[in-house]
Amino acid sequence: MHESTARPRVLVARAAFADILAELESVADVEYTADDHIDTPQQLRVRLADKHGAFITNSERIDAELLDACPQLRVVSTMTVGVDHIDLAACAARGVVVTHAPDVLTETTADFGFALLLAAARQIADAERYLREGRWVKWSYGLFAGADVHGTTLGIVGMGRIGQAIARRAAHGFGMRVLYHNRHRLSDALEAQHRAAWRTLPELLGESDHVLLALPYSAAVRHLIGAPQLAQMRPGATLVNVARGGVVDEAALAAALHGGHIGAAGLDVFEGEPAVNPLLLSAPRVVLTPHIASASVPTRRAMVKLAVDNLIAVLQGRAPLTAAGV
Ligand code: DGY
Repeated sequence: MHESTARPRVLVARAAFADILAELESVADVEYTADDHIDTPQQLRVRLADKHGAFITNSERIDAELLDACPQLRVVSTMTVGVDHIDLAACAARGVVVTHAPDVLTETTADFGFALLLAAARQIADAERYLREGRWVKWSYGLFAGADVHGTTLGIVGMGRIGQAIARRAAHGFGMRVLYHNRHRLSDALEAQHRAAWRTLPELLGESDHVLLALPYSAAVRHLIGAPQLAQMRPGATLVNVARGGVVDEAALAAALHGGHIGAAGLDVFEGEPAVNPLLLSAPRVVLTPHIASASVPTRRAMVKLAVDNLIAVLQGRAPLTAAGV
Protein backbone atom coordinates (compact mmCIF):
# COMPACT_ATOMS: atom_id res chain seq x y z
CA MET A 1 0.00 0.00 0.00
CA HIS A 2 1.54 3.31 -1.00
CA GLU A 3 1.04 6.72 0.60
CA SER A 4 -0.45 9.38 -1.63
CA THR A 5 -1.74 12.79 -0.70
CA ALA A 6 -4.73 12.37 -3.04
CA ARG A 7 -6.04 9.30 -1.24
CA PRO A 8 -8.06 9.67 1.95
CA ARG A 9 -6.80 7.96 5.10
CA VAL A 10 -9.01 5.57 7.05
CA LEU A 11 -8.59 4.03 10.49
CA VAL A 12 -10.10 0.58 11.03
CA ALA A 13 -10.37 0.75 14.81
CA ARG A 14 -11.14 -2.93 15.47
CA ALA A 15 -10.58 -6.21 13.67
CA ALA A 16 -13.39 -7.52 11.48
CA PHE A 17 -13.67 -9.73 8.39
CA ALA A 18 -10.39 -8.93 6.60
CA ASP A 19 -11.69 -9.74 3.12
CA ILE A 20 -14.47 -7.16 3.48
CA LEU A 21 -12.29 -4.51 5.13
CA ALA A 22 -9.80 -4.87 2.27
CA GLU A 23 -12.39 -3.31 -0.06
CA LEU A 24 -11.54 0.01 1.62
CA GLU A 25 -8.10 -0.12 0.04
CA SER A 26 -9.65 0.57 -3.36
CA VAL A 27 -10.37 4.14 -2.24
CA ALA A 28 -8.22 4.86 0.81
CA ASP A 29 -4.98 4.23 2.64
CA VAL A 30 -6.02 2.05 5.52
CA GLU A 31 -4.52 1.71 9.00
CA TYR A 32 -5.70 -1.54 10.61
CA THR A 33 -5.79 -2.69 14.22
CA ALA A 34 -4.00 -5.97 13.81
CA ASP A 35 -4.38 -7.41 17.31
CA ASP A 36 -7.97 -6.18 17.82
CA HIS A 37 -7.03 -4.26 20.99
CA ILE A 38 -9.34 -1.49 22.11
CA ASP A 39 -7.67 1.93 22.08
CA THR A 40 -7.96 4.17 25.11
CA PRO A 41 -9.68 7.47 24.24
CA GLN A 42 -6.22 9.11 24.14
CA GLN A 43 -4.82 6.42 21.79
CA LEU A 44 -7.86 6.72 19.54
CA ARG A 45 -7.41 10.50 19.35
CA VAL A 46 -3.78 10.05 18.28
CA ARG A 47 -4.53 7.38 15.66
CA LEU A 48 -7.50 9.32 14.22
CA ALA A 49 -5.80 12.73 14.22
CA ASP A 50 -4.80 12.61 10.53
CA LYS A 51 -7.65 10.38 9.24
CA HIS A 52 -10.56 11.25 6.97
CA GLY A 53 -12.66 8.22 7.80
CA ALA A 54 -13.12 5.71 10.62
CA PHE A 55 -14.55 2.21 10.81
CA ILE A 56 -15.62 1.66 14.40
CA THR A 57 -17.66 -0.63 16.64
CA ASN A 58 -19.50 0.19 19.86
CA SER A 59 -16.20 0.08 21.79
CA GLU A 60 -15.05 3.41 20.29
CA ARG A 61 -16.56 6.53 21.84
CA ILE A 62 -16.82 9.46 19.45
CA ASP A 63 -17.31 12.72 21.33
CA ALA A 64 -16.63 16.43 20.89
CA GLU A 65 -13.18 16.22 22.45
CA LEU A 66 -12.11 13.52 20.03
CA LEU A 67 -13.64 15.32 17.05
CA ASP A 68 -11.76 18.51 17.92
CA ALA A 69 -8.51 16.55 17.78
CA CYS A 70 -9.39 15.12 14.33
CA PRO A 71 -10.05 18.12 12.09
CA GLN A 72 -9.84 16.15 8.83
CA LEU A 73 -12.44 13.57 9.81
CA ARG A 74 -15.30 13.42 7.29
CA VAL A 75 -17.07 10.17 8.10
CA VAL A 76 -17.48 7.81 11.05
CA SER A 77 -18.98 4.45 10.14
CA THR A 78 -20.04 2.12 12.93
CA MET A 79 -20.83 -1.51 12.14
CA THR A 80 -23.55 -1.42 14.82
CA VAL A 81 -27.13 -0.26 14.55
CA GLY A 82 -26.91 1.44 17.96
CA VAL A 83 -25.24 4.86 17.95
CA ASP A 84 -25.25 5.62 21.67
CA HIS A 85 -21.42 5.63 21.62
CA ILE A 86 -21.42 8.54 19.17
CA ASP A 87 -22.28 12.17 19.91
CA LEU A 88 -24.41 12.74 16.82
CA ALA A 89 -24.94 16.44 17.51
CA ALA A 90 -21.20 17.06 17.89
CA CYS A 91 -20.58 15.23 14.59
CA ALA A 92 -23.30 17.20 12.79
CA ALA A 93 -21.93 20.48 14.14
CA ARG A 94 -18.53 19.66 12.61
CA GLY A 95 -19.90 18.29 9.33
CA VAL A 96 -18.83 14.73 10.12
CA VAL A 97 -21.18 12.19 8.54
CA VAL A 98 -22.17 9.29 10.79
CA THR A 99 -23.37 6.01 9.35
CA HIS A 100 -24.61 2.87 11.08
CA ALA A 101 -25.89 -0.61 10.19
CA PRO A 102 -29.66 -0.95 10.51
CA ASP A 103 -31.85 -3.63 8.87
CA VAL A 104 -29.13 -6.21 8.22
CA LEU A 105 -29.21 -7.44 11.85
CA THR A 106 -32.93 -7.18 12.52
CA GLU A 107 -33.99 -10.81 12.05
CA THR A 108 -30.87 -12.29 13.69
CA THR A 109 -31.31 -10.06 16.74
CA ALA A 110 -35.00 -10.92 16.92
CA ASP A 111 -34.12 -14.64 16.81
CA PHE A 112 -31.78 -14.14 19.73
CA GLY A 113 -34.27 -12.08 21.72
CA PHE A 114 -36.69 -14.94 21.36
CA ALA A 115 -34.01 -17.47 22.28
CA LEU A 116 -33.28 -15.52 25.47
CA LEU A 117 -36.99 -15.35 26.26
CA LEU A 118 -37.34 -19.10 25.89
CA ALA A 119 -34.11 -19.83 27.75
CA ALA A 120 -35.07 -17.59 30.66
CA ALA A 121 -38.74 -18.61 30.98
CA ARG A 122 -37.92 -22.31 30.68
CA GLN A 123 -34.75 -22.11 32.82
CA ILE A 124 -32.61 -23.73 30.15
CA ALA A 125 -29.27 -22.31 31.34
CA ASP A 126 -29.80 -23.27 35.00
CA ALA A 127 -31.02 -26.72 33.98
CA GLU A 128 -28.01 -27.33 31.75
CA ARG A 129 -25.58 -26.27 34.48
CA TYR A 130 -27.37 -28.56 36.94
CA LEU A 131 -27.02 -31.54 34.61
CA ARG A 132 -23.35 -30.85 33.81
CA GLU A 133 -22.56 -30.50 37.51
CA GLY A 134 -23.80 -34.07 38.02
CA ARG A 135 -26.65 -33.00 40.28
CA TRP A 136 -29.45 -34.77 38.30
CA VAL A 137 -30.40 -37.86 40.26
CA LYS A 138 -34.06 -38.34 39.38
CA TRP A 139 -36.89 -37.03 37.17
CA SER A 140 -39.45 -35.15 39.18
CA TYR A 141 -42.56 -33.16 38.36
CA GLY A 142 -41.28 -29.81 39.53
CA LEU A 143 -37.70 -30.02 38.24
CA PHE A 144 -37.02 -26.70 36.45
CA ALA A 145 -40.73 -26.20 35.88
CA GLY A 146 -40.79 -22.65 34.49
CA ALA A 147 -43.28 -20.42 32.72
CA ASP A 148 -44.99 -21.01 29.39
CA VAL A 149 -44.16 -18.76 26.47
CA HIS A 150 -46.72 -19.87 23.88
CA GLY A 151 -50.19 -18.42 24.35
CA THR A 152 -49.08 -15.84 26.94
CA THR A 153 -48.78 -12.05 26.71
CA LEU A 154 -45.55 -10.45 25.52
CA GLY A 155 -44.92 -6.76 26.18
CA ILE A 156 -42.33 -5.21 23.86
CA VAL A 157 -40.75 -1.90 24.86
CA GLY A 158 -39.34 -0.29 21.71
CA MET A 159 -41.27 -1.17 18.58
CA GLY A 160 -38.71 -0.35 15.91
CA ARG A 161 -37.49 -2.86 13.36
CA ILE A 162 -36.25 -5.36 15.95
CA GLY A 163 -39.29 -4.99 18.20
CA GLN A 164 -41.57 -5.61 15.22
CA ALA A 165 -39.57 -8.66 14.13
CA ILE A 166 -39.97 -10.07 17.64
CA ALA A 167 -43.70 -9.28 17.58
CA ARG A 168 -44.09 -11.31 14.36
CA ARG A 169 -42.41 -14.33 15.94
CA ALA A 170 -44.53 -13.99 19.07
CA ALA A 171 -47.92 -13.50 17.39
CA HIS A 172 -47.59 -15.77 14.40
CA GLY A 173 -45.20 -18.44 15.71
CA PHE A 174 -46.16 -18.72 19.38
CA GLY A 175 -49.77 -17.55 19.43
CA MET A 176 -48.95 -14.80 21.90
CA ARG A 177 -50.91 -11.65 22.59
CA VAL A 178 -48.53 -8.78 21.83
CA LEU A 179 -48.55 -5.42 23.59
CA TYR A 180 -46.04 -2.72 22.82
CA HIS A 181 -44.86 0.60 24.17
CA ASN A 182 -43.15 3.05 21.84
CA ARG A 183 -42.83 6.82 21.60
CA HIS A 184 -44.79 6.71 18.36
CA ARG A 185 -47.73 4.42 17.77
CA LEU A 186 -47.56 2.19 14.73
CA SER A 187 -50.06 2.69 11.93
CA ASP A 188 -53.27 0.68 12.18
CA ALA A 189 -52.00 -1.47 9.30
CA LEU A 190 -48.74 -2.31 11.10
CA GLU A 191 -50.54 -2.98 14.38
CA ALA A 192 -52.83 -5.38 12.54
CA GLN A 193 -49.91 -7.04 10.73
CA HIS A 194 -48.07 -7.64 14.03
CA ARG A 195 -51.29 -8.29 15.96
CA ALA A 196 -49.96 -5.78 18.47
CA ALA A 197 -51.71 -3.23 20.71
CA TRP A 198 -50.15 -0.06 22.17
CA ARG A 199 -50.06 0.43 25.92
CA THR A 200 -48.57 2.97 28.33
CA LEU A 201 -45.49 1.57 30.03
CA PRO A 202 -47.27 0.92 33.38
CA GLU A 203 -50.15 -0.78 31.55
CA LEU A 204 -47.75 -2.94 29.54
CA LEU A 205 -45.79 -3.92 32.65
CA GLY A 206 -48.97 -4.85 34.51
CA GLU A 207 -50.50 -6.89 31.71
CA SER A 208 -47.50 -8.82 30.32
CA ASP A 209 -46.28 -12.27 31.29
CA HIS A 210 -42.97 -11.48 29.59
CA VAL A 211 -41.42 -8.07 28.92
CA LEU A 212 -38.79 -7.62 26.23
CA LEU A 213 -36.69 -4.46 25.85
CA ALA A 214 -35.67 -3.52 22.30
CA LEU A 215 -35.48 0.27 22.40
CA PRO A 216 -32.56 2.49 21.33
CA TYR A 217 -30.47 3.87 24.19
CA SER A 218 -30.16 7.49 25.22
CA ALA A 219 -29.64 9.16 28.59
CA ALA A 220 -33.42 9.70 28.73
CA VAL A 221 -34.08 5.96 29.08
CA ARG A 222 -31.34 5.18 31.63
CA HIS A 223 -32.88 2.91 34.30
CA LEU A 224 -36.28 3.08 32.59
CA ILE A 225 -36.82 -0.28 34.27
CA GLY A 226 -35.97 0.27 37.94
CA ALA A 227 -37.41 -0.96 41.22
CA PRO A 228 -40.85 0.74 40.78
CA GLN A 229 -41.26 -0.65 37.25
CA LEU A 230 -40.15 -4.14 38.29
CA ALA A 231 -42.73 -3.99 41.08
CA GLN A 232 -45.39 -3.10 38.46
CA MET A 233 -44.60 -6.28 36.52
CA ARG A 234 -46.70 -9.37 37.12
CA PRO A 235 -45.47 -11.76 39.83
CA GLY A 236 -43.33 -14.39 38.11
CA ALA A 237 -42.91 -12.34 34.90
CA THR A 238 -39.82 -12.60 32.68
CA LEU A 239 -37.65 -9.64 31.67
CA VAL A 240 -35.47 -9.84 28.53
CA ASN A 241 -33.04 -7.11 27.46
CA VAL A 242 -31.49 -6.97 23.99
CA ALA A 243 -31.37 -3.15 23.96
CA ARG A 244 -28.63 -1.63 26.13
CA GLY A 245 -27.67 -2.49 29.68
CA GLY A 246 -28.30 1.02 30.96
CA VAL A 247 -32.04 0.67 30.35
CA VAL A 248 -32.29 -1.60 33.41
CA ASP A 249 -31.29 -0.85 37.01
CA GLU A 250 -29.29 -4.03 37.44
CA ALA A 251 -29.15 -3.90 41.25
CA ALA A 252 -32.94 -3.55 41.39
CA LEU A 253 -33.35 -6.46 38.97
CA ALA A 254 -31.02 -8.68 41.00
CA ALA A 255 -33.05 -7.85 44.13
CA ALA A 256 -36.32 -8.66 42.33
CA LEU A 257 -34.93 -12.01 41.17
CA HIS A 258 -33.70 -12.83 44.69
CA GLY A 259 -37.03 -11.75 46.16
CA GLY A 260 -38.90 -13.93 43.65
CA HIS A 261 -41.19 -11.22 42.22
CA ILE A 262 -39.45 -11.47 38.84
CA GLY A 263 -39.64 -15.06 37.63
CA ALA A 264 -36.66 -14.99 35.27
CA ALA A 265 -34.49 -12.69 33.21
CA GLY A 266 -32.47 -12.94 30.01
CA LEU A 267 -29.82 -10.27 29.51
CA ASP A 268 -27.51 -9.81 26.54
CA VAL A 269 -26.37 -6.30 27.46
CA PHE A 270 -24.96 -4.76 30.64
CA GLU A 271 -24.45 -1.24 31.91
CA GLY A 272 -20.70 -1.57 32.45
CA GLU A 273 -19.98 -4.25 29.87
CA PRO A 274 -17.81 -6.18 29.45
CA ALA A 275 -17.87 -6.03 33.26
CA VAL A 276 -21.02 -7.62 34.66
CA ASN A 277 -22.56 -6.47 37.92
CA PRO A 278 -21.66 -9.17 40.52
CA LEU A 279 -25.20 -8.89 41.88
CA LEU A 280 -26.46 -10.26 38.56
CA LEU A 281 -23.81 -12.98 38.45
CA SER A 282 -25.08 -14.31 41.77
CA ALA A 283 -28.80 -13.80 41.06
CA PRO A 284 -31.04 -16.83 40.47
CA ARG A 285 -32.94 -17.65 37.24
CA VAL A 286 -31.06 -15.26 34.98
CA VAL A 287 -29.48 -16.10 31.63
CA LEU A 288 -26.50 -13.87 30.82
CA THR A 289 -24.87 -13.64 27.38
CA PRO A 290 -22.00 -11.40 26.18
CA HIS A 291 -23.76 -8.94 23.82
CA ILE A 292 -24.13 -11.45 20.97
CA ALA A 293 -27.70 -10.93 19.79
CA SER A 294 -26.57 -10.02 16.26
CA ALA A 295 -23.72 -12.53 16.22
CA SER A 296 -24.45 -14.93 13.40
CA VAL A 297 -21.66 -15.13 10.83
CA PRO A 298 -23.82 -14.02 7.87
CA THR A 299 -25.22 -11.09 9.83
CA ARG A 300 -21.90 -9.94 11.23
CA ARG A 301 -20.51 -10.09 7.66
CA ALA A 302 -23.46 -8.04 6.42
CA MET A 303 -22.91 -5.45 9.18
CA VAL A 304 -19.24 -5.05 8.28
CA LYS A 305 -20.05 -4.91 4.57
CA LEU A 306 -22.63 -2.16 5.10
CA ALA A 307 -20.19 -0.17 7.23
CA VAL A 308 -17.51 -0.48 4.54
CA ASP A 309 -19.95 0.46 1.75
CA ASN A 310 -21.03 3.50 3.77
CA LEU A 311 -17.42 4.60 4.27
CA ILE A 312 -16.57 4.19 0.59
CA ALA A 313 -19.69 6.07 -0.50
CA VAL A 314 -18.95 9.10 1.66
CA LEU A 315 -15.24 9.14 0.86
CA GLN A 316 -16.15 9.11 -2.83
CA GLY A 317 -18.52 12.06 -2.36
CA ARG A 318 -21.71 10.02 -2.62
CA ALA A 319 -24.61 9.92 -0.17
CA PRO A 320 -24.24 7.29 2.58
CA LEU A 321 -26.49 4.25 2.32
CA THR A 322 -27.60 4.39 5.93
CA ALA A 323 -26.84 7.67 7.68
CA ALA A 324 -27.51 8.06 11.40
CA GLY A 325 -29.29 11.35 11.92
CA VAL A 326 -29.32 13.59 14.98
C1 DGY B 1 -25.77 -3.06 17.63
O1 DGY B 1 -25.57 -3.23 16.43
O2 DGY B 1 -26.09 -1.98 18.11
C2 DGY B 1 -25.57 -4.25 18.51
O3 DGY B 1 -26.06 -4.03 19.79
C3 DGY B 1 -24.08 -4.52 18.60
O4 DGY B 1 -23.51 -3.46 19.31
